[in-house]
Amino acid sequence: MSEPILSEITDGIGVITLNRPNVLNALSLDLMKQLVETLEQFDENDDIRVIVLAGSEKVWAAGADIKDMADASVVSMHQRNQFARWERIKRIRKPIIAAVSGYALGGGCELAMHCDIIVASETAKFGQPEINIGVIPGAGGTQRLTRAIGKYRAMEMVLNGRFIDAKEAERFGLVSRVVPKEHYLSAAMAIAKQMARRPTVALQLGKEAILKASELPLSEGLEYERKLFYMLFATEDQKEGMRAFIEKRKPVFEGK
Ligand code: CAA
Repeated sequence: MSEPILSEITDGIGVITLNRPNVLNALSLDLMKQLVETLEQFDENDDIRVIVLAGSEKVWAAGADIKDMADASVVSMHQRNQFARWERIKRIRKPIIAAVSGYALGGGCELAMHCDIIVASETAKFGQPEINIGVIPGAGGTQRLTRAIGKYRAMEMVLNGRFIDAKEAERFGLVSRVVPKEHYLSAAMAIAKQMARRPTVALQLGKEAILKASELPLSEGLEYERKLFYMLFATEDQKEGMRAFIEKRKPVFEGK
């Protein structure tokens, strides 16, 4: 049986590809286990600065694996505690760029929303169709989607299974940008390569600060941001960046 995910490291980018084409990349327990473990390994690996998470051109992911869950009981769902694994994605410090083409449904949409930048091909379709199978999103969809696109649009998607296309998703603020389908991966890689040359600590603290925006009241978020800003003055890259600006040359960031 083929591996549910593939991974490689190229030019400072850790690339993970969802690989269950026969079931539209349904997110089985095994896939999620391997995905989260690989993300954590990439987060630890000093050769990697940015992570790209991709599906195929045909599909990003059609959700949690329904066959894994269909006959589950409350007790078995409680015991398998599958969403605890998803919580670990939140703790990845390096930026994660989602390269989404085709369906991003249910857990697939939620997985994209766990990433930090979403590059969508013009064929991408986002939805939370769990209502059609008698449930609601369970991996953060009701919360993250509402924060991303607002209550009224989220209600229609969650309560009536409405799909939105890439252009709507861009207009609603769910995706960072839309590209022709043949570029869904190369566009994500291009952003990743550019970001990989940025000062590493600032990159990670910038991500951390933005993620706090949906958790903290404004005054606390601003205070948090200010502390991280001051903290960056302990890095060599801050000294290099500001000196290079004054000396009118390109900075060389060492990630320190
Ligand atoms: N789980 C398991 N298998 C899935 C799947 C899923 N989420 N989505 C698709 N598949 C399988 C199908 O069973 C089918 O397998 P077989 O060939 O063995 O029958 C194969 O993938 C191809 O799918 P379709 O024949 O259905 O393809 P289609 O092009 O006609 O339809 C689709 C595509 C509209 C995406 C449809 O497959 C679909 O509705 N999928 C389910 C979407 C869904 O409900 N997702 C939410 C899951 S629950 C969840 O995610 C909870 C959570 O919050 C974590």
